[in-house]
Amino acid sequence: MASLPGYRRPYPGTQPSHLHPIYRSSVKRAPAQPLVFLPHTLSEITGPVFGAESVDVKATDLTKQGHGDPLGERIIVSGRVLDENSRPLSRTLVEIWQANSAGRYFHRNDQHNAPLDPNFTGCGHALTDDEGRYRFVTIRPGEYPWKNHYNAWRPAHIHFSLFGPAFATRLVTQMYFPGDPLLPFDPIFNCTADEKARNRLISVFDWETTIPVHALGYKFEISLAGRDATPMEI
Ligand SMILES: [Fe+2]
Repeated sequence: MASLPGYRRPYPGTQPSHLHPIYRSSVKRAPAQPLVFLPHTLSEITGPVFGAESVDVKATDLTKQGHGDPLGERIIVSGRVLDENSRPLSRTLVEIWQANSAGRYFHRNDQHNAPLDPNFTGCGHALTDDEGRYRFVTIRPGEYPWKNHYNAWRPAHIHFSLFGPAFATRLVTQMYFPGDPLLPFDPIFNCTADEKARNRLISVFDWETTIPVHALGYKFEISLAGRDATPMEI
């Protein structure tokens, strides 16, 4: 069988270090042995395909999932999903999950002493359109404490999960907000050594998508591979 073209491997420093001791969880889960190079085969350069029947169109508006309006600041998060050559990827599944405006997840494992919002689950999904675009209406998430170190707080963020065309392009990451004072102190954000790559995780305030008297817009472009790949952040 002819050898298959694989995906370009990440450039050094543009993805999070497996071991980043100030991010405590990385100490136990980082590989202790040198990594083994595995060529990309059919299993890696193909992946599941999601059609329109896989998505609920209402899942793009997280402010309309309850009986009333969720509390907090309404925002619009949108952008494009791009391949390794900066070409838009259409019909790609984009899933998001996030804390509510008080910094609490709708999940039993989250025991933070902040109120749940009965009108907000924090979960949504979408398929990109012909130009690779996605768009969510949601609530700006609150910062929340975690147990990594004394007085540790996560910057406001939205978790993203994307499939792209292949298992090798699978991306789980986090989107941050511009100007967040917690970013320089966040061990997860700072796992990626390359500053330019790290800053690709910060969304950009965007007048184009801001709707008058309704909601601010934030643009978050996602690249699944190649020179401008968005860092993985689990
Ligand atoms: Fe989170």
